[in-house]
Amino acid sequence: MQMRNMQLLKTILIAAVGATLLAGCKAGGDNPGREYAANMYHSVAYEPLTQVTDESAGTWVNALNNGRGEYFNSNKYNPNWMNMREPAPNTVKRNAQGWLPYRIGKDSLEYASLTLKNPLDSTAAIIADGKALYTMYCTHCHGAKGLGDGKVATGVTVDGVEKGMLGGVANLTGDAYINITEGHIFHVITWGKGLMQPHGSQVSPEDRWKIAKYVKTLQKK
Ligand code: HEC
Repeated sequence: MQMRNMQLLKTILIAAVGATLLAGCKAGGDNPGREYAANMYHSVAYEPLTQVTDESAGTWVNALNNGRGEYFNSNKYNPNWMNMREPAPNTVKRNAQGWLPYRIGKDSLEYASLTLKNPLDSTAAIIADGKALYTMYCTHCHGAKGLGDGKVATGVTVDGVEKGMLGGVANLTGDAYINITEGHIFHVITWGKGLMQPHGSQVSPEDRWKIAKYVKTLQKK
């Protein structure tokens, strides 16, 4: 007898707890339902791109004790209550690798040649990277050794048909180029020169410096 009552009590208890839990699941409209640790789901951190200036926005879900609604998300101390500060005047945007934009104009090759210094060290790893990049971006015209004898320069025959060639590809190991600076090479990769098209949009500044280093090693041989 005793046993059976206990069993009944247990069943009722489980049903009651279940019903309460299920009731807590009801959510919608202005009712978020029951949440465990609400502040974990509704971030109270400043969201840089939101700007809710109504301090009471979301008071109905408020679990905060600072008197503000949960969705209030503005920084009162910034101009226009913005969460993000505007950058300081004359701030210059860098690219994802942290590089400043290249500002030397196409026509200022000589200036670039004389003033630019390669920021990278001549380590074996950097030169190996430079070689891989040169192979990807330059070999088809300038040739693996820089002799100006890549397939684009010499032309190829496909199924007995001569495919066009690009005349005048520079032999980078020739007297005219042997003493050019790494800055010169960087500038030419960036902007192109004469018949050579610019590669600035394809090759990141860091990679251009790596290639410039590698070209210098080709010229030493
Ligand atoms: C589509 C073919 C082509 C590709 C690709 C190419 N070049 Fe050139 N490059 C040329 C031609 C053509 C010239 C000669 C330009 C002229 O004087 O009209 C040249 C010239 C140069 C010069 C000499 C510039 C000067 O001062 O006269 C350098 C340095 C150079 N290229 C480096 C590179 C590097 C490094 C790459 C790879 C990132 C590359 N080139 C990719 C065709 C190419």
